[in-house]
Amino acid sequence: MKYEKILESKNICLRNLDLSYCKQYYVDWLNDTSINAYIEPRLYHQTLEGVTKYVKELHESSDGYIFGIFCDDKHIGNIQLSAIHPIYKCAKIGYVIGDKNYWGRGIATEAIKLIKNFGFDILNLHRLEAFVFEEHIASQKALEKNGFAKEATFIDKVKDIQNNRWCNYCVFGTVNPNYKEL
Ligand SMILES: CC(C)(COP(=O)(O)OP(=O)(O)OC[C@H]1O[C@@H](n2cnc3c(N)ncnc32)[C@H](O)[C@@H]1OP(=O)(O)O)[C@@H](O)C(=O)NCCC(=O)NCCS
Repeated sequence: MKYEKILESKNICLRNLDLSYCKQYYVDWLNDTSINAYIEPRLYHQTLEGVTKYVKELHESSDGYIFGIFCDDKHIGNIQLSAIHPIYKCAKIGYVIGDKNYWGRGIATEAIKLIKNFGFDILNLHRLEAFVFEEHIASQKALEKNGFAKEATFIDKVKDIQNNRWCNYCVFGTVNPNYKEL
């Protein structure tokens, strides 16, 4: 699906990720092993065709949204809501700050806040969740600062394919206190 309005906070804004942003730099983020170590795209070599198809399919789907994260008027990453369940009203979030110059500046924390407000206040979702490697502290901190709590740890659920080792995976969740039963 597409949400055409802009979601803004102090330092960043989220905009529907138009296909015109499906460019090589974005594919390069996903193939960079220093960026993709904890995200699914690490599992397969990413191509411009594949990435464009992925974004197009999310736009055309009835269960997901993908936004570009913009700072200083520059596209620096993406954040998405996926697997929106029509009855449980829950969804999964995923994010990448692809431009490493912007790491450690609170961008992920701010982007998660915006997508959480979008999910809860605009879509009236009941629950959001995120799946994170247990050792991925930065991502966990950004979630915790937005009210997500660790709910479970799955032992040896995922693989660090660069080092061929199994890793624990955690689910972080948050429930909408203002959810309206319609
Ligand atoms: C993980 C990621 C999203 C963090 O984004 P970010 O914008 O740098 O995060 P923030 O600046 O909002 O920082 C969040 C917290 O993590 C801390 N942090 C940042 N980098 C860290 C690191 N390498 N190790 C430990 N903590 C770190 C920050 O200090 C901050 O905590 P604090 O407020 O207590 O100081 C970003 O590095 C990224 O996109 N990585 C690649 C893709 C990815 O892993 N996505 C998440 C998959 S679950």
